[in-house]
Amino acid sequence: MTTDYHSHILPNIDDGSDSIKTSLKMIKMMKQQGIGIIVATPHFYMHREASLDSYLVKRQNAYEKLMAADPAVKDIHIGAEVAIEKGISVLGELEKLCISGTRLILLEPPFTQYNSWIVEEIDEIANSRRLIPIIAHVHRYMGVYSKSDLNSLMSVDAVFQINAEAFEHFSTRRFVNKLIS
Ligand SMILES: [Fe+2]
Repeated sequence: MTTDYHSHILPNIDDGSDSIKTSLKMIKMMKQQGIGIIVATPHFYMHREASLDSYLVKRQNAYEKLMAADPAVKDIHIGAEVAIEKGISVLGELEKLCISGTRLILLEPPFTQYNSWIVEEIDEIANSRRLIPIIAHVHRYMGVYSKSDLNSLMSVDAVFQINAEAFEHFSTRRFVNKLIS
């Protein structure tokens, strides 16, 4: 069974689905494409949220609304796409942002310039918090970070996630093939 570890299918919570109707349509399309388990990973930006608890309540409400809308919807696991910011590794109860029932946590590096603190935060999350980082859509940083900076990011002890879009272009496809091998 194929699992999609990165999606924005929960309604009205981030820049993903704008309604329950859209969410149901997205789920239907994913099922048609052979996805068995969907991990819903709404954005979590530490500096934008009032608190971790309020984010968790907001996420739970969106999830429950979607579940109530169509009893046929199942195999959706809850997670988050956690923006890597300075200090994220010491956020209390960071574990609550892991994919439910696992120690996997989806982390999104910033799209601005690379900085060494990014890797330090990831290392802390892996080594001090004992979580398993999944680095979100690594292929997207090819044009954003220099080659050596991208190599630094790729040197962390983590799982690397790619989007299907990576297979559409020659350069990202080559990058992904190298990563897989
Ligand atoms: Fe995302």
